[in-house]
Amino acid sequence: MEQLDFNNRNYKARFHLMPPKGWLNDPNGLCQVKGVHHIFFQYSPEDARGANKYWGHYETKDFLSYRYTGILLSPDTPYDKDGVYSGCAFVKEDTMYLYYTGNVIEEGDFDYIYEGRGANTLMVMTKDGITASAKEVLLKNKDYPSILSNHVRDPKVFCENGTYYMVLGARTKEDEGRVMVYTSLDLRNWSFDHFLYRKDFGFMWECPDLFRLGNWQYLSLSPQGLENETYRFQNRYHAGYFLAKKDLLEKESENCGLSEFYEWDYGFDFYAPQTYQDEKGRRILIGWMGVPDPEYDQDPTISEGWQHMLTLPRELTADEEGILCQNPVEEIKGLRSKQLFEEQNGVLAIWDKEECKVAKGDELTIETKGVYELLLSPKREFSLKLDVGVEFRYDDSQKELTLSLSEEVGHQRTIRRCKLSKKEVVWEVRAFVDTCCIEIYVNGGKYVFTTKYFPEDVTKKTIKLRGKRKKITLFSLGDFQYNN
Ligand code: FRU
Repeated sequence: MEQLDFNNRNYKARFHLMPPKGWLNDPNGLCQVKGVHHIFFQYSPEDARGANKYWGHYETKDFLSYRYTGILLSPDTPYDKDGVYSGCAFVKEDTMYLYYTGNVIEEGDFDYIYEGRGANTLMVMTKDGITASAKEVLLKNKDYPSILSNHVRDPKVFCENGTYYMVLGARTKEDEGRVMVYTSLDLRNWSFDHFLYRKDFGFMWECPDLFRLGNWQYLSLSPQGLENETYRFQNRYHAGYFLAKKDLLEKESENCGLSEFYEWDYGFDFYAPQTYQDEKGRRILIGWMGVPDPEYDQDPTISEGWQHMLTLPRELTADEEGILCQNPVEEIKGLRSKQLFEEQNGVLAIWDKEECKVAKGDELTIETKGVYELLLSPKREFSLKLDVGVEFRYDDSQKELTLSLSEEVGHQRTIRRCKLSKKEVVWEVRAFVDTCCIEIYVNGGKYVFTTKYFPEDVTKKTIKLRGKRKKITLFSLGDFQYNN
């Protein structure tokens, strides 16, 4: 097993999971068993630009210290030789049943969309994420409805009222995104039950996730092929959720059970999230901090031999209308090492002069050395420069939030926008600023912006705030710990 050594990385993330080496994409197999959270991920160890896919495995009890235990699943059978693609964990009697897609590229002259690709659904069992039972092939192309292309993937399994359900993402031969709902009584034999779809909503639906929270039911997915708009769908590919208007496990909900689509994140780097329910009953979401085929330049971390990260684990909560808010799980507060600065109604309450320099004028400037969490309760409009080249702004007359990055730090990440409703104002901003990525949670996590950025100097961070505020608080943050 590889020993983790991140110290030769200039852009080493301090509190975001990175690949041990090479490339990382989707979070997979998220679950908690006997206190341990398992975080598998799509992994190409040999190439920071991505190559054949494996499942790597981190585990943690507290989201602060992590253990990397190596690769659990490799593309080593005829059924998954071209990629152990994304999937999930279903926990039964302390055993993880891992379901995933085995990608197979056939030899020949094929388009690999409608022909030439195998998309097998496989399952293995593991108790620890370190050793697994033999791979079992559960479904092959011929088992899927005939209206589908060869693009079928990303199983997510759950149980309701004694029936097991699996949702799978797909692209039809007519280039429409669909979710398939399968049922099973034994976790091995699966029967197709019905589709979930929305007309004219992209050509492929990846990474479906169907779950309930309180009285609400949701279908999360990562659709491909939606047109960019000013305030929505601004990246190449997107991720969000529908709220169920009818029970999505019922056949009748096929084409009419879905609300409008709410995007999970408005930043430049977010895709393929997965959720799970932990042992405390929390619904936790982790996303891939990256997007497929981005319009931006390749990340400079490639020259350090790695690319991409996972987001912080986020707890989901629903408001009165069922709209979901995301907030870093409570444990993440354990990263706070020191309160560096606090000002309330213009009165300075705390200032750690060793750790940060402060200048007050029209603009409040704080210079600090390390990574941090910033809490801001603005009075109205503001401009918040989170580092050289990163600006987060709120324009109250337009009800518009914008995140803009300069060419130097953004590497072609330019601007992302989010429109609030007429009745809303921004009342809270919580920003987590790591060495090369930022997560900004607005209004109790109703709007989130996740982005990578690559500052020239990673040893100091400069915050500049323009705009009246009720309160501003700054914490320095510690690092994730890794134990091999
Ligand atoms: C999403 C995705 C999945 C697929 C995996 C392959 O990013 O394209 O649909 O299973 O990545 O790495």
